[in-house]
Amino acid sequence: MKAKPTIRKRYNELLALIEKYNYHYYTLDAPLVDDASYDELMRELVSMENGNPELKNHDSPTSRVGDVVSSSFAEVHHDPPMLSLGNVFSDAELSEFDARIRKILEIEESIVYSVELKFDGLAVELLYEDGRLIRGSTRGNGEIGEDVTANLSTLRAIPERLGGDAVPESLTVRGEVYMTHHEFERINRRREEGGEQLFANPRNAAAGSLRQLNPRVTAERELSIALYGIGKISGGPALPDQQTMFQFFKKTGLPCPENADIGGLVKIREFYDYWVRNRHSLGYDIDGVVVKVNDFKMREKIGSTSKAPRWAVAWKFPAREAITVLNSVDYQVGRTGVITPVGNLDPINIGGVLVKRATLHNFDEIARLDLRIGDTVKVIRAGDVIPKVLAVLAESRTGAERPIETPEKCPSCGSALNREEIYVRCVNDDCEAKLQERLRFFVSRDGLDIEFFGPELVQRLYDAGSVRSVADILRLRAAELLAVERMGEKLAEKILASIEKRKMIPLSFFLRALGIRNVGEHVAKVLARSVGSLERLFDISADELMAIDEIGTGVAESVMEFFRSQENRKLIEEMLAAGLVVTGELVETRVIEGVAGKSFVFTGTLEGMSRTEAEALVERLGGRAAGSVSKKTDYVVAGGEAGSKLDKARQLGVRVLTEDEFQKLIGGEQ
Ligand code: IVH
Repeated sequence: MKAKPTIRKRYNELLALIEKYNYHYYTLDAPLVDDASYDELMRELVSMENGNPELKNHDSPTSRVGDVVSSSFAEVHHDPPMLSLGNVFSDAELSEFDARIRKILEIEESIVYSVELKFDGLAVELLYEDGRLIRGSTRGNGEIGEDVTANLSTLRAIPERLGGDAVPESLTVRGEVYMTHHEFERINRRREEGGEQLFANPRNAAAGSLRQLNPRVTAERELSIALYGIGKISGGPALPDQQTMFQFFKKTGLPCPENADIGGLVKIREFYDYWVRNRHSLGYDIDGVVVKVNDFKMREKIGSTSKAPRWAVAWKFPAREAITVLNSVDYQVGRTGVITPVGNLDPINIGGVLVKRATLHNFDEIARLDLRIGDTVKVIRAGDVIPKVLAVLAESRTGAERPIETPEKCPSCGSALNREEIYVRCVNDDCEAKLQERLRFFVSRDGLDIEFFGPELVQRLYDAGSVRSVADILRLRAAELLAVERMGEKLAEKILASIEKRKMIPLSFFLRALGIRNVGEHVAKVLARSVGSLERLFDISADELMAIDEIGTGVAESVMEFFRSQENRKLIEEMLAAGLVVTGELVETRVIEGVAGKSFVFTGTLEGMSRTEAEALVERLGGRAAGSVSKKTDYVVAGGEAGSKLDKARQLGVRVLTEDEFQKLIGGEQ
C-alpha cells in the first residue's frame, strides 16, 4: 500500500526537522527546541512509521541510536554499544512496560526494579585497566564516541585509581556528566561579562565543557558525574544486580547516583511522584526517572533492540511548557539602565506554578521571535530561572495582533534612550528606577549581602526619603529603620549589625557591589587582583586596564567611565566616610608566594598527580599554566621522560624544577 501524498509530505517534513534539530543539539551543542517538543516530533514520526511501514527507510532517525560524531577528537569504539532508552509518559505506559517484561520472562509475580534519577547531561564511558583510569569517552552515536580522557580526568569526582581490594583487570563504567544550576549560572555570568554567547541550559554547558580541545577550559568548570552502569567487566567480583553494582562502585570510589532505590511498581510510582514535586531541590536538572530490571540474569534473558534495552525504560516528567497569550509588555529599567521588555501573560499553571509574566530578554529577541501583542505563545519555566517565551504559534494569528514598540523614552525618567547593540539603555545618571535597582543590588547577595535587607525594605526606605544613595545605606540609623511599618527593634538591630559587619570588604566584592557595567564576579576579581587597591582605580588609564589579562575594551571603558565620574567619586568618598573599609584582595584560594603571577609548563609524567591536576592546582594558587615554553615561562616542571619542552627550557635558560622541587614550592598543597 502506498502512503497518501499528504502523509508522505508530513513525514518528509518531520524527517527534515528532526535532522536539523539533531545537528544543532548533538553537533553544535546549541539546541533549537526544547526536549519536550523534540520528543513530540519523534513520537509523531514513530506513529507515522507504525501506521505506514513503507515510509520508513534504513536511515530513519528512529532506527539510529542518535548523536553525530564530531571530528576533532580521536574515535573510541564502544563495545557493547552505548544504547539509548525507550520512553514512557504515563502510569499506564509504565504498566505496559512491566507487563511486556513479565511476558518475556514468563513470570506472574512482581519484578524488582532499580529506579534512578534520569540525569540531564551527556553519557560517557570510563575504561579502567588494573584499576587505573586509561580512557574516557563520550557516547557519540552509541557505537563510536570521542576520546575526551584529558578532559574527564579534570573532574574531581573521577578517581584516577580504583580503591578497594577486588579491582577488576578491565572495567568500563558508564554514566552521565552534568552541571549543577549554580555552576551553570556562574559560567554564564562570566560569559556575559566577556560578551560571549550564553549556554542555553546546563546540559549544553556540560557538553560544551567536556568537548573542549583544551582540558584547562574543562578544569575551570565544575562538572559532576553519576555512574549508573557497566559496559564490560573482567576479572572482578561477581555482580548479580544493580544494587550490588552500586555497592561495588562505592567501595572502589566510583561516583554513584544518589537517591536510587529498588522495588516494584508501587515503589516506582512513589519515587516518580516524589521527584516530580521535588526535582528543583536537587540543584541540577533531571528529566525523568529510569526504571531498570534489577537482576542482571533477567536482563540477559529480556535482551535489547539495536537501539535500547528492553529491560529498562525512562519515565519522563511532564513538560514545563505551556501555551498562553501575551497580553501586554512592560519595560523594566535595570541598574545599568538597560531596558528589559517583560511580557504579561494570561495566567497559566506550569508544573504547579502560576505564571503571569515572562522575560522577553531584549528587543532583538522580540524581532527574532517575531513576537506581537495578542500572540499565542509557548512559555517555558525551567528550574529557578524566570519563565521565558520560547516561540510564537504563528498559525493562531487572527490579524488583530499588534507590534511591540521599542520605547524611545525611559519609562521611569522620560529621558531619551540610547540604542547599544542589542540593548536599549537609559543613560541618565539621576534616573530613579536605575537608582532603586542599584540600591537593591547593593544590599543583595551579589552585592554587600546585608542580611534581612530585601527589595521591599529598600523600596520603603526610598519612599520615606531615608535612603537615596548606597552611602545612605551605610549611614542608616535605628530611628530610620524603626520608622518603617512592621519593623521591630530586634530586626532593626540585626540589620544594623549586618551592615556593620559588611563594612570591612575586600576590593573585589566592593567592585562587584558597585554594579559597574560589565563588571561581574569574575571581572571584579581579575581587576582587584591586578590593581590591588581602590585608590589606583581613580586615575588608572585605559592602557593600564587593557594590559590586564582578560580585560577588554568594554570593561576598560565602563571602569574608566565609572571612576572618572565626579558623582561616583563623591559617592565612594561618602561610603568611606560612613566607615567602609576596602581591604586588599583576600583571595579565597590560598595564594602562594612564588606561584602567584608565575607561569608554569608541565612536561613528562608526574608521579603524584596528573598534568591536568597540576595545572589546575597552579591556577588555584594564583599562577598560570601554559602549554608551551617561551622566554616568558617562569618554571618548567619536568616529570619522567620529559622531551622537547625540557630541551627548550634549557635552551632559553628557563628554570627547571623536578616534581619534588615543585611540591616544595607549593608548600605541599594538594
Ligand atoms: S541507563 C542501556 N540510567 O539517558 C541503558 N541512563 O535517554 C542506558 N541517563 O543515554 C542508560 N540518567 O545518557 C541510564 N540513571 C540513568 C540515566 C541515564 C540519565 C541518560 C543516558 C542515556 C539517556 C537515554
